Amino acid sequence: MQDKVTTIKLRMMKERGEKISALTAYDYITAKILDESGIDIILVGDSAANVFAGYEYTLKISMEEMLYHTRAVKNGVKRALVIADMPFLSYQCGVEEAVRNAGNFLKAGASAVKLEGGKSVINIVKRLVDFGIPVMGHIGLTPQSVHKLGGYSVHGDSPDAERELMEDALALRDAGAFSIVLEKIVSECAKKITEKLEIPTIGIGAGKFCDGQILVYADMLGLNKEFHLKFVHIYANIYDDMLTAFKNYIKDVKEKKFPSEDESY
Ligand code: KIV
Repeated sequence: MQDKVTTIKLRMMKERGEKISALTAYDYITAKILDESGIDIILVGDSAANVFAGYEYTLKISMEEMLYHTRAVKNGVKRALVIADMPFLSYQCGVEEAVRNAGNFLKAGASAVKLEGGKSVINIVKRLVDFGIPVMGHIGLTPQSVHKLGGYSVHGDSPDAERELMEDALALRDAGAFSIVLEKIVSECAKKITEKLEIPTIGIGAGKFCDGQILVYADMLGLNKEFHLKFVHIYANIYDDMLTAFKNYIKDVKEKKFPSEDESY
């Protein structure tokens, strides 16, 4: 087995110009397959709200649900860095509560936490890092602010927006974040941020210049038929494969072909 991935290793990868691969997972089996594939980072994203629970917004998922997913993922992982996403209201209500919740993610098996926001979360990031909890930032499109943002539009598309994002990124770095997710940011803006920072940027819909890339695993596997996002490259058609398998099973049961003699005691 290759060496375990650590936050220090990610920084070294950036220095060497080696791209960082990341995907989300919410359960044991997926995490196990991902770890075997050699992925660098597994994010237990609050996108579990949409993908796993079928909630419309990520806002709905709770600490308890995220802890459950984190434990399940950790059970399948030996090498990749497991990062837990702090859900809505688990860090916004005060530093003390944020420390307790982040600490509980580490107890559940994560090696780091991610939280959304720039300058507005700097005090929280500093305290978590002071207490030995590695923090990944997340700027650009931050789905927990969907109602304030008014939707899921592209960020960094004006000089003012670019300056804001750069300030947020620098503030997160100065607060001790080990990496920052750049979500749905125009490529040129993501490039400038990536070049300015010593810590790695992980892009999702932020173009090719980021130090690494992340996608929601269900999107890239073609499990999501409800909508297609421009920045998602689809690597498989698992939705159709599952549908065919389920239909074949139903047919076999109805036609009394399953179970066969060989499948019986
Ligand atoms: O929850 C999630 O899946 C995320 C990624 C999109 C970065 O935050």
